[in-house]
Amino acid sequence: MFDPTPNIDRILLDEQQIRARVAELADKVTADYQDKDLVVISVLKGAFVFMADFVRSVKLNLRLDFMSASSYGSGTSSSGKLNVRMDIKTDVKGKDVLIIEDILDSGVTLSYVKKHIYDLGAASVKVCTLLDKPERRVADIAADYVGFSIENEFVVGYGLDFAEDYRNLPYIGILKPECYAGI
Ligand code: IMP
Ligand code: MG
Repeated sequence: MFDPTPNIDRILLDEQQIRARVAELADKVTADYQDKDLVVISVLKGAFVFMADFVRSVKLNLRLDFMSASSYGSGTSSSGKLNVRMDIKTDVKGKDVLIIEDILDSGVTLSYVKKHIYDLGAASVKVCTLLDKPERRVADIAADYVGFSIENEFVVGYGLDFAEDYRNLPYIGILKPECYAGI
């Protein structure tokens, strides 16, 4: 086992900043979904921490579900296929779905996930992402709710990983470049 902290170059968003922004996002969603039938879906694994904090601040009854999916091919190639490893079990027909994401990067996976949920009959599908890296966008997709728009730097913590490590850090940090050099 290793201590992850020395591998963090600097903290981009600390616990307090994250907590405050998550509460603001949840307040907006609470206001916007007053008369809706809300189902919150998160794409594993990265969004699990954000999802847990977010739903506890939404002051509405809601249902939640998880899915695990990736797009075929590399981040920039769009083969038009979504590899669904684990699908949602909730019937979303006629429901208002909010997809929770940790980070919107190329947007390739998320655009397929959005289509997939519409294909299942959802009445509306919106996206709430904690982090947005607009510079990296390939797919034609924008989030409806964005926590923080960030520079094109690789971040870890608060659910986000590098090679499955660092997910449990309570803050969002920038990894030292030597930690992912050669990858
Ligand atoms: P994309 O938008 O389809 O390219 O995929 C987004 C996914 O890439 C996220 O859900 C993350 O799992 C991963 N990702 C993108 N940027 C970062 C980052 O800076 N740190 C950790 N994971 C990232
Ligand atoms: Mg991920």
